[in-house]
Amino acid sequence: MKQATSYDWIDYFYRNSPEPAFPWDQAIRLSGSERVAVIASIQQFQLGEGASGARMLERAQRFARESGDLGLLAALKLFLREEQRHSRILAQFLQLENAPCLRQHWIHSIFRALRGIAGLELCLKVLVTAEVLARPYYSALRDATNSPLLRSICQRIFEEEGAHLCFQAFALSRFQSRHCRLTQAIIKMLHALLLFSTAVLVWAEHKAVFTSAGRTFREFWAETLREFDSLYLNSARLIESPIAR
Ligand SMILES: [Fe+2]
Ligand SMILES: [Fe+2]
Repeated sequence: MKQATSYDWIDYFYRNSPEPAFPWDQAIRLSGSERVAVIASIQQFQLGEGASGARMLERAQRFARESGDLGLLAALKLFLREEQRHSRILAQFLQLENAPCLRQHWIHSIFRALRGIAGLELCLKVLVTAEVLARPYYSALRDATNSPLLRSICQRIFEEEGAHLCFQAFALSRFQSRHCRLTQAIIKMLHALLLFSTAVLVWAEHKAVFTSAGRTFREFWAETLREFDSLYLNSARLIESPIAR
């Protein structure tokens, strides 16, 4: 199988860039109980999806100069643009529901600070932790509502987050080869610890969404772990292609 390159990812993000068509005109308002379960949660995710990634791009620029992989920098920019589109779509949905967007939230600030303290590899690990959790979250949000609009938004973001995980596996594989096996195992263990603590936090903050969708914490964690394992598997294999997803 052909090994994906940064340019394959640039191609993928370009092909996926046309604005998705959502049934905005079928915007049936959420019921009272749905609003209670999902609005505050969507507000948090809308804020998180909109990160500019400026500091990550600075690090990526340095990495691109050192490694000569200029394509990775361009692919990261397109990836961030897609994340910002998620934020815009959720903002548009919140507007229809007459709910404001948040300007800041303490969880978002912690993640921002974590991303700011280290080099590109750690920055990507922190970012990918949120990505791993995003898929189980959006599938639960989709199942927590009867709104055709919100369901189709969640389905689209869920699918794009799947491609993002493949992209992150590809980006992280750039660093994996620099570490010996023992260091790789320690990094993975620490990453799993960060993931578990974040999963507990996400569960506590968004419990109403998960329970409305009929998810237990055990199911949520099992789904999260599956995404995490496939991230490392794909990263180790170095063969994942955006076209294959
Ligand atoms: Fe996203
Ligand atoms: Fe993502």
